[in-house]
Amino acid sequence: MTNRQITIAELPKGALTPANFALRETEMPQPAEGEVLLRTILMSIDAANRSWMQGATYRDAVNAGDAMPTYALCEVVESRSPRLAKGDIVAVESTWSDFVTRPAHKCQKMPDVRPLSHLMSVYGIAGKTAFHGLISVGRPVTGETVLVSAAAGSVGSIVGQIAKALGCRVVGIAGGAEKCAWVISELGFDACVDYREPGLGKALRAACPDGVDVYFDNVGGSVLEAALFAMNTRGRVVCCGAVSQYDSTAPTGPRNLPGLVVVKRLRMEGFIVMDFAQDDAKALKALQTWVAKGQIKVFEDVVEGLENAPAALIGLLAGENRGKRMVRVGPDA
Ligand SMILES: NC(=O)c1ccc[n+]([C@@H]2O[C@H](COP(=O)([O-])OP(=O)(O)OC[C@H]3O[C@@H](n4cnc5c(N)ncnc54)[C@H](OP(=O)(O)O)[C@@H]3O)[C@@H](O)[C@H]2O)c1
Repeated sequence: MTNRQITIAELPKGALTPANFALRETEMPQPAEGEVLLRTILMSIDAANRSWMQGATYRDAVNAGDAMPTYALCEVVESRSPRLAKGDIVAVESTWSDFVTRPAHKCQKMPDVRPLSHLMSVYGIAGKTAFHGLISVGRPVTGETVLVSAAAGSVGSIVGQIAKALGCRVVGIAGGAEKCAWVISELGFDACVDYREPGLGKALRAACPDGVDVYFDNVGGSVLEAALFAMNTRGRVVCCGAVSQYDSTAPTGPRNLPGLVVVKRLRMEGFIVMDFAQDDAKALKALQTWVAKGQIKVFEDVVEGLENAPAALIGLLAGENRGKRMVRVGPDA
């Protein structure tokens, strides 16, 4: 039996293309003592995949020849460790592969959640990032205005719905009129502004008549620049990511830093979801409550087949997805 794996054929010099990837057949991996053999069920497709190709971030850089790293949900098919048994479902730092071996202690055994895909979306990294970033970094108060970019994406869609559940006025930023209409009708945002249209600053002022108290920034660049102008005094800017910069050779930054931060007394703070791991149980409980009450609707965008992972990532960066994008490599156990 052989295994399939997607590697980096060549690091991108500009926008990512299918030529940057190669599909390889490899030997079936064999678990050593203390390891497990894992069958991949779902792989997370993240904007961060692209940023790892630009150099070291909060993790090592990805280089040509490497199998593409990913967060994955897998089934244990063979165990050489007392920690895990055949049939267990685990979350693990893996690669774009049908099968991988991993030390059992690096696998996190998952509870029996149905559908399994929710462990990738609302109860996975996307949901936790939205919760911790908004609650612990943004600290919104009922009645305040919360602005969020990449509003139809996996993190942004949950941020806005949490803010609504907390009684805030919620305004999204997304690409295209149709997507913006969807953000309002399906996610329940109060307004949504199309950043691809000229005049973003004016549109933000119109959508946020009382100014912005919390801006949850997923994109950086010129959108961040426009959002800074809309901030109220003592506003909070939650720096979650900078997807507008990942797939470009000519990054653009906000030109109004640090001037506006000083004048408006803004607090601008970055975070990585793992920083708040001690609060994960609290996050999960709150997310489950909002989902049960219908205050968070879960949107998942599932692409079928390992071989389609490169196209799934390229499409994510072009804004194809609504909600959490993932690739299904195999059936649930
Ligand atoms: N800090 C953390 O711990 C952490 C954890 C997870 C994710 N993140 C960050 O969260 C953000 C969202 O990532 P995700 O994986 O959940 O992806 P996502 O939001 O589901 O998808 C990315 C979205 O970004 C938008 N986009 C692409 N290019 C853009 C541009 N030039 N300007 C503005 N928007 C653009 C696209 O939507 P449009 O159609 O609206 O353009 C696309 O759908 C990323 O910045 C990521 O790095 C951070």
